[in-house]
Amino acid sequence: MRVPATLIAELRKALRVAVLTGAGISAESGLATFRDKLSGLWEKYSPMQFATPAAFAADPELVWGWYEWRRMRASAAEPNAGHQALAKLQQRLAVSVVTQNVDDLHERAGATQVIHLHGSIHAPRCEDCSRPHAATAPPLEPEAGRRVAPPRCASCGGRVRPGVVWFGEALPAEQWQQAEDAVRQCQVFLSIGTSGVVEPAASLARYARRRGAVTAQINTEDTGLGAAFDHDLRGSASELLPALLAAL
Ligand code: OAD
Repeated sequence: MRVPATLIAELRKALRVAVLTGAGISAESGLATFRDKLSGLWEKYSPMQFATPAAFAADPELVWGWYEWRRMRASAAEPNAGHQALAKLQQRLAVSVVTQNVDDLHERAGATQVIHLHGSIHAPRCEDCSRPHAATAPPLEPEAGRRVAPPRCASCGGRVRPGVVWFGEALPAEQWQQAEDAVRQCQVFLSIGTSGVVEPAASLARYARRRGAVTAQINTEDTGLGAAFDHDLRGSASELLPALLAAL
């Protein structure tokens, strides 16, 4: 699919652009989305079931093992052409990158000031005192997964938890504020590789539209939300973002 000339024209005119990314932009770097089926030790579960405080409380070793496996995958993954094109777009235009992803592939592609709405898989912290837990080298986990006991906090002895936002938890206030500011100020809003169903991140697209921004989504699938965007681009982020950059 080609990038519509009208969208390119809007981007050229824009003083500020806001981008919201989701798991789809990292899919071509080999990181599973939240819709992909789990296998091995976790095959009976869905990623959604693990992303809750209740799941961690009920079986910390099962859930921590999954996050360690994901940390291993995220550490080994490389940014793809989609991440790279977005970083280059930041050099051409004033682009705020807001992501729901807990990997650091935007940063490793060269993007700056990435706003992480759902935390980072590389920043575990104490469940009790919230102190950051010193980062350890990426783990070597078996592909089929294993149970791993969460480490203990060096300060208070509390249990260490993943530094990500789980369902039912509030988003980090500062990042949310930055995301709202970015959207309020933008003339073009791009939603890339997200199913657009998890709130409040999903509300940013609606907010952008209400504020009069031109909105576009890039997704390989029909999200069912196409009518909520001015441009509904079907295709992969790793193809459409370089195409968009080349057309600017
Ligand atoms: P999802 O897994 O819900 O959606 C990923 C989207 O990316 C889907 O709509 C796919 O069709 C699309 N997609 C897949 N490959 C793509 C590609 N190469 N190019 C473009 N699009 C592609 O992921 P998110 O929307 O990020 O939250 O999920 C939002 C949040 O729900 C996550 O941050 C996580 C999850 O539960 C928490 O853990 C709190």
